[in-house]
Amino acid sequence: MKRVAIVTGAAKPESIGFAVARGLIEEGCEVVVADLYTEGFSAFKGLCVKTDASDQSSVETMVKKTIEAHARIDILVNCVGGSWGITEQDLRSPPRATFLGLANCELSDWRTILGANLDSAFYCCRAATPYLKKQGGAIVNISSIAARKGIPPGALGSSGPYAVAKAGIMALTRQLALELGGFGVRVNCVAPGVVASGRLNQVFQLSGKDRGPEGPVSQIPMGRVGTVAETAALIVALCTDDTAYMTGVMVDVNGASYAA
Ligand SMILES: NC(=O)c1ccc[n+]([C@@H]2O[C@H](COP(=O)([O-])OP(=O)(O)OC[C@H]3O[C@@H](n4cnc5c(N)ncnc54)[C@H](O)[C@@H]3O)[C@@H](O)[C@H]2O)c1
Repeated sequence: MKRVAIVTGAAKPESIGFAVARGLIEEGCEVVVADLYTEGFSAFKGLCVKTDASDQSSVETMVKKTIEAHARIDILVNCVGGSWGITEQDLRSPPRATFLGLANCELSDWRTILGANLDSAFYCCRAATPYLKKQGGAIVNISSIAARKGIPPGALGSSGPYAVAKAGIMALTRQLALELGGFGVRVNCVAPGVVASGRLNQVFQLSGKDRGPEGPVSQIPMGRVGTVAETAALIVALCTDDTAYMTGVMVDVNGASYAA
C-alpha cells in the first residue's frame, strides 16, 4: 500500500514544498499537492487541489478530496508561509520594499500573515489528524530561524508577525506531538535559516544580499545560504521511518546561524 502524503505550498517550482513533494514521490509516496498556484499543477501527475491553506473550509475540502481519491493520509507537510505572496490576491506579486514590524504593520497584515503561517498549519493538522491516527504517520511543520531570533528591523520582504507566527509553529508542533504520540503520529518541525527558494531570490533582487530576510548573508557562519534540496532532504527524512523515534523536535538547518 502506497503511503499518501499531503504537501501544502508545493506548486511553485522553486519552492521548498516542491522539492519535498518530489522527494516524497521518490520515496514511493502518493503525493497530493495543495496550493493556490494552479499554474504549477501540471508538473505533478497525482492529485493537485487548489487550496487556500489559511481558509478552514478550503482545507477541509482538500482533505475530503484526498480521502475520496486515496482513502488514507500517512504524511502531512505544511510548507505554506511567508510575509507576502500568501493570498490569492498577492500570490504573483513581488515582495514589498518595506519591513513590516509589529509596531507599524496594519491589523490586516497581522491577520493575513498569522493566517498563512500559523492558522494554515493548525487547519491542516486538525483536518488530517483523524486519518493520520488510523494507522499512524508523520507531520512536518516549517518554522524559521525567525522564531527564535526575530527578524532584524530593516530586513526587506519580511515581517514581525511572521516571526511570531513561526514561533507559534514550534509550540503547535510540541503540543500536537504530545497529543498524537500515543496514536503513532510523529509531529516535528524544521526551522530553516536563509534558503535559496524562488521567494528568497525575489527578495534578494529587491534587497541585495546585505539586507535580506535575516540580515547580511556574510554573517552566516557557513558563508552561504542553504539550498532548497538540502532543506527538503531533511524534511523528507522526518517523514520516513528512518526517524521513527523522533517527535516533538525542532530541527534547525541554518549554516550555524545561531552560533553567530
Ligand atoms: N526560503 C527561506 O529562506 C525560508 C526560510 C525560513 C522558513 N521558510 C519557510 O519555508 C516555507 C516555504 O518557503 P519557500 O521559500 O519555499 O516559499 P515559496 O514562496 O517559494 O513557496 C510557497 C508556496 O506556498 C504557496 N502558497 C502561498 N500562500 C498560500 C496559501 N494561502 N494557500 C496555499 N498555498 C499557498 C505558494 O503558491 C508556493 O507554492 C514557508 O513556510 C517559509 O516561511 C523559508
